[in-house]
Amino acid sequence: MCYYCSMGQKISTIVISEDKHTQELIKLYLEEFGEFNFLAATDDFSKAYEAVKELSKSLIIIDISDYPDPGLNFMAKISQEFENCKILALSDRPNVDLIVKVMRTGVKNFLSLPLIKNDFFTILSDILSEFCGQQKKKTKCRILTVFSNKGGIGKTSIASNLAVELAKITKENVALIDLNFQLGDITTVLDLKPSFNISYMLQNLDKINEDFLLSTLEKYKDTSLYVLADPPYFKQADNISPIQISKLFEILKDTFSYIVVDTSAGFDAKTMKALEFSDLIFLVTTANLPALRSSQRCLELFNKLGFDNSKIQILINRYMENDEIKKEDVEEVLGKKIFWKVPNNYFTMMSAINKGVPVAEINQDSNVARSYKDLALMVSDSVYKQNLIKKFSSPANEVMERIF
Ligand SMILES: Nc1ncnc2c1ncn2[C@@H]1O[C@H](COP(=O)(O)OP(=O)(O)O)[C@@H](O)[C@H]1O
Ligand SMILES: [Mg+2]
Repeated sequence: MCYYCSMGQKISTIVISEDKHTQELIKLYLEEFGEFNFLAATDDFSKAYEAVKELSKSLIIIDISDYPDPGLNFMAKISQEFENCKILALSDRPNVDLIVKVMRTGVKNFLSLPLIKNDFFTILSDILSEFCGQQKKKTKCRILTVFSNKGGIGKTSIASNLAVELAKITKENVALIDLNFQLGDITTVLDLKPSFNISYMLQNLDKINEDFLLSTLEKYKDTSLYVLADPPYFKQADNISPIQISKLFEILKDTFSYIVVDTSAGFDAKTMKALEFSDLIFLVTTANLPALRSSQRCLELFNKLGFDNSKIQILINRYMENDEIKKEDVEEVLGKKIFWKVPNNYFTMMSAINKGVPVAEINQDSNVARSYKDLALMVSDSVYKQNLIKKFSSPANEVMERIF
């Protein structure tokens, strides 16, 4: 009996893996978990397809370690044709590229092999609650800050496009905060004329709760993105204290699943507070010497401040394959793997800025639009991916392939 909805029937589960040990282990775990019924293990996609056709509700657990491409095609086909078949993908060689490809097939569940029982059970519970039509619980809020101590490097472009994509993908409440009070330009980039102002809010924190937030803040178009920026004529930056910033985050965390923070170029007290609160910091750099030197200094400072190394991720903006400084050089200089590269695309970026829209509205198939979307996929939900992010950030981890 299902503990969510008293559904009597167990969910038929098909395991696709060539590895007998993985098959056996999954079977054992499924028996222990209880709500899923191990139907068969196979390495034949067409058999699995025929079986799914006959089932009203099913789960496919597919190991794509050895042959990722056929597995990915199969997953895309199943998730398109059968709404009532959920998929969990597994691989013993997880890397950013592969996870993004999995997400693109429409499959949200991914685990790395060897299987960790706790993670597996958590994902089974999530899948079960989806089957029972349980309302998805709000994801634990994650604060993502886009930072660099250089201006004009792409922070605002990244923060705004990432926030828009996160809202589109997750449909959960996303807040985009412009901490660049003096020169904030999120309002320009997204062509907003907010009536709301963040300075007022910061001075009246004790009066603010979820109802206030959701009724006062304006949604960005028909997405679940809320922008917290000052109207251009209202600048009161100077008397905002770091304590107010901390309180702001505490309040927002209850209402929003993701908070994306755009910062000014430098280490002012407000930015430092945001960095401290962040779960993930994207340190934006470009493949040239001055930018790399600045990033080096930032990393040194973060280190001195005792920031957890895994929460800082390097993002190269305006990347070009034929750059004189290669990604390996950047990794060597910074002593850290590159987490993400956003390609250079002057034309698309410029038309987006001139029209005041996210780049996806100019051309969703452009390399920059795809890059922002994939980045959003990478940082959206699932603690499993979070754990992977941590693994990627450790140069000592030889098991991981180079990400790009
Ligand atoms: N990937 C990119 N390719 C081409 N131009 C870019 C890219 N990212 C940002 N830009 C351009 O660089 C300029 C500065 O970007 P912006 O996001 O405002 O930087 P910051 O917020 O760090 O000052 C803008 O004109 C923007 O269009
Ligand atoms: Mg900016």
